[in-house]
Amino acid sequence: MKKPKVYVTRQLFEKAVDLLKKHADIEVFEGEDNPVPREVLLKKVKKVDGLLCLLTDKIDTEVLDAGKNLRVVSNYAVGFNNIDIAEATKRGVYVANTSDILTETTADCAFALMMCIARRIAEADRHTRNGGWIHAWGPKMFLGSDIHGKTLGILGMGRIGTALTKRAKGFGMNVIYYDNIRRRDLENELGIKYYSFRVLLKKSDFVSIHVPLTDATYHMIGERELSSMKKTAFLINTARGPIVAEEVLYHALKNKLIAGAGIDVFEKEPIDKDNPILKLDNIVITPHIASASIDTRTNMAVLAATNLIDVLEGRVPTNLVNPDVVNVRPL
Ligand code: DGY
Repeated sequence: MKKPKVYVTRQLFEKAVDLLKKHADIEVFEGEDNPVPREVLLKKVKKVDGLLCLLTDKIDTEVLDAGKNLRVVSNYAVGFNNIDIAEATKRGVYVANTSDILTETTADCAFALMMCIARRIAEADRHTRNGGWIHAWGPKMFLGSDIHGKTLGILGMGRIGTALTKRAKGFGMNVIYYDNIRRRDLENELGIKYYSFRVLLKKSDFVSIHVPLTDATYHMIGERELSSMKKTAFLINTARGPIVAEEVLYHALKNKLIAGAGIDVFEKEPIDKDNPILKLDNIVITPHIASASIDTRTNMAVLAATNLIDVLEGRVPTNLVNPDVVNVRPL
């Protein structure tokens, strides 16, 4: 039997590529660690039944129209704001993501950013390497903020928010949350309290973002929100850059409106070399690596491949993002 055709937009882990090869005729974009150029994507998608893509690939009407035979788009990410879901559904294209598998690793990173910014770890490291440690031990050297006993406000109590809560509880933090959907089950189970968005911002010593990027969450954290946070509070973002109005954050950090931030995701990635935020000491910056452990990134690749194969072989994938598609094109 003829194997279905699949295009993979980035070099992936061998384990996933081997799996795909068993079930499909695959082509992988050769370009090192660069996103596939748009014109290449538009050309390649024309001939394939399945696309395994990354969050750096915009899968919009143009791509979906070009992909006349496309049956599945499998995203190598939990976030799927790079894909026009409504248009994919309309065309009967199944969309899957890698939810669940990166939950714990991402929560680890969010917690690491909290620790790092609150205890000024990266700043102290730079200072020491640059020869700044010229006096012996001093009582006021690099004073930071405690984590234990502080209030962590979580925006979005989904899987990652829940995993972060467990870490925070282990460190003796008080956890509060805001979500569109009230999670009374978790309130009892984890001992967390629900507050409105505005009240959460006022009460929290740390605010960590775990909502998806949608029209409703675009610039959810702007001037008004940052000004209502405590001057001693920290903002953590491992979700998506555009949820925070970055220029406003820059000014808030520069003018010490809040104490600091731990930011893994940016409005423009990669961040411009001359972005003034890079000059600030009260921010820890990482290059969108929250899920980047060897195990998790490998497992994500295998899951993305499995989701794709499932659709091509007539099974509904575990991580289906657009369940309505089943009515448009039943498998
Ligand atoms: C995602 O999966 O959405 C992350 O941003 C990358 O792991």
